[in-house]
Amino acid sequence: MNRIRCMINDRRYEIEGLPPTMSLLHYLRDELHLTGTKEGCNEGDCGACTVIFRDDSGGSPRYRAVNSCLVYLPMLHGKRIYTIEGISQGNERHLVQESILSHYASQCGYCTPGVSMSLFEAAYRHDMKEPWQFVEQMAGNLCRCTGYRPIMECVREVAGQGKDRFVDKLYEPAEGVETLDYRYEDFRCYVPNTLEEALDFRASHVDAQVVSGGTDVGVILNKVGARAHEFLFLCNIRELRQMREESDKLVIGATARLGDVEMFCQDRFKPLGRILRFFSAHQIKQIACMAGSVCGGSPVGDIAPVLAATDSRLCLQSPRGIRKLAFEDFILGYRKTSMEPDELLVGFELPKLDPMARCASYKISKRQELDISSCSCTFYVETDERDVVTCARFAYGGMAAVPGARARRTEAFILGKVWNEENVDEAARQIGEDFHPISDFRASAWYRGEVAANLLRGFYVETLEDRQPKRLYRPASTLQLEI
Ligand SMILES: Cc1cc2nc3c(=O)[nH]c(=O)nc-3n(C[C@H](O)[C@H](O)[C@H](O)COP(=O)(O)OP(=O)(O)OC[C@H]3O[C@@H](n4cnc5c(N)ncnc54)[C@H](O)[C@@H]3O)c2cc1C
Ligand code: FES
Ligand code: FES
Repeated sequence: MNRIRCMINDRRYEIEGLPPTMSLLHYLRDELHLTGTKEGCNEGDCGACTVIFRDDSGGSPRYRAVNSCLVYLPMLHGKRIYTIEGISQGNERHLVQESILSHYASQCGYCTPGVSMSLFEAAYRHDMKEPWQFVEQMAGNLCRCTGYRPIMECVREVAGQGKDRFVDKLYEPAEGVETLDYRYEDFRCYVPNTLEEALDFRASHVDAQVVSGGTDVGVILNKVGARAHEFLFLCNIRELRQMREESDKLVIGATARLGDVEMFCQDRFKPLGRILRFFSAHQIKQIACMAGSVCGGSPVGDIAPVLAATDSRLCLQSPRGIRKLAFEDFILGYRKTSMEPDELLVGFELPKLDPMARCASYKISKRQELDISSCSCTFYVETDERDVVTCARFAYGGMAAVPGARARRTEAFILGKVWNEENVDEAARQIGEDFHPISDFRASAWYRGEVAANLLRGFYVETLEDRQPKRLYRPASTLQLEI
């Protein structure tokens, strides 16, 4: 198969003769002249370009709001997409359009198509019960002139209320597509349906750029251009999206979407569930994956500290077999990993946490959502019956050149000591010996050092009663709503 097959607003499309580096946003606007979808930032930050994906590779079908500026043509293969033009029927407005109208939730209207599509997803979700979920649903949509109050009124009104033709469409069986081998000029994009095909391609094309969710790769594509001419897209491989609970661990597929991982882990593996609440924003989490976060090797990545502090394992696979590595053996240096050229990261094993262990994650950023951490961390502490520390792992992001850097001296200091306020305070003073962070536009070195120490002190206080605290129910954005 060398043509990209997809459905957009219930019309079938077969795409060929276009560069695979073209984003869905530009395909919609420039090729199909569906100009309702707007371009704002072109890097996943504003939500103006939000469209709906029905992608049932893995799990039950669900509408997902995604940023079309970070989705590329090969990723459309086998997908159903809805844009703002496709949700009304003739003169009959969709429920979410009615809601926007009646709440005066649009003024200049530039953000409104994107806002509408995030509301559209909410209309067919039946799991939105807690206040934070309404905030989270809309956090990826910036609006400069209407204010968020009416938009938040809309999401509360429409959530779970979609009872129209889109319910049937959601459950229509997906059309199977064959593995795609798309070529355009000197580009080649391979979109396999199975892991076996992906591994074979990887082994024979070691320079191909691997793409899971494409949110990291996409920002570079949009800003700098293609760094490779061959791409291996993993988005259609169902087995890589699986998540399951075993007696001693959770197994998370490499390309399980972060939004799904967040929900799966919120009670099962709280440090990850909590950090994902404050990771990027909704549309990014509907497509980005853990594999992309870890393989990118960013020193400010928020998932790395969780994996390092909880002693989680990474599963790497090639045609030669599978190997499992502790996170710290995977990271070799600044953006350098121990992955062999023919390997793919295929999954994660998160050990079930001893309920008596203390463990929590924290993220400090200027904004609650859609912001890169100035400092993030996960702490893990085991104590014996006398409250003497028998194991301590303190892993940080944003404090060193490597992701999930351990505060080794601080850990050594607290080991064997009683876990009490005095000793934790003394341990926190050692953080300055462990790290020499940089100053940048996000935070000064001084600030990072102070906050890193204070987070450890805060962890002590927070885990006095609840040893593995869940998500924080902090107010979001600029407004606390009475819900
Ligand atoms: C708007 C925005 C907000 C963000 N917010 C945050 C945030 O709050 N916190 C944070 O930590 N990060 C954030 N990020 C970055 C984030 O880490 C990534 O967006 C995401 O997790 C990467 O996953 P992906 O699947 O999209 O990766 P991709 O873009 O698909 O891949 C990233 C890298 O990993 C490699 N790769 C991917 N999968 C595999 C695999 N299976 N095997 C081998 N190599 C692989 C790719 O080749 C590429 O080099 C943000 C990004 C954006 C655009
Ligand atoms: S244009 Fe801003 S998120 Fe896509
Ligand atoms: S209505 Fe103008 S930016 Fe939202």
